[in-house]
Amino acid sequence: SLPFPVYTRQEVARHHDEASRVWVTYGSDVFDVTDFIELHPGGKSKILLAAGGALEPFWALYAMHNQEHVLELLRGYKVGVL
Ligand code: HEM
Repeated sequence: SLPFPVYTRQEVARHHDEASRVWVTYGSDVFDVTDFIELHPGGKSKILLAAGGALEPFWALYAMHNQEHVLELLRGYKVGVL
């Protein structure tokens, strides 16, 4: 399989709404979660707070994300690495 493309944090930050697609990072991985926004159990507005940036500051506050099933779901949306 091909390696994932490499993006800068600046490129990720350009994907901050649905029109530009919603990207987030977790660790050094980059995800396009646009198609998950409407499915988010915590609501659309909450997930959009992290759009274009890192999930860690938000997930530190909402610790229900620190579960294997959440990380597995996230992995399905991976599009690149930093
Ligand atoms: C719940 C995924 C971003 C706030 C959840 C749950 C999943 C999920 C799977 C259900 C967990 C469970 O109950 O087992 C995601 C993914 C995110 C993301 C994949 C990013 C790509 C965020 C952000 C916030 C947030 C940035 C806050 C700013 C919440 C809250 C709940 C929740 C408050 C609890 C909803 C409830 O049970 O009433 N999220 N989340 N999430 N999420 Fe997220």
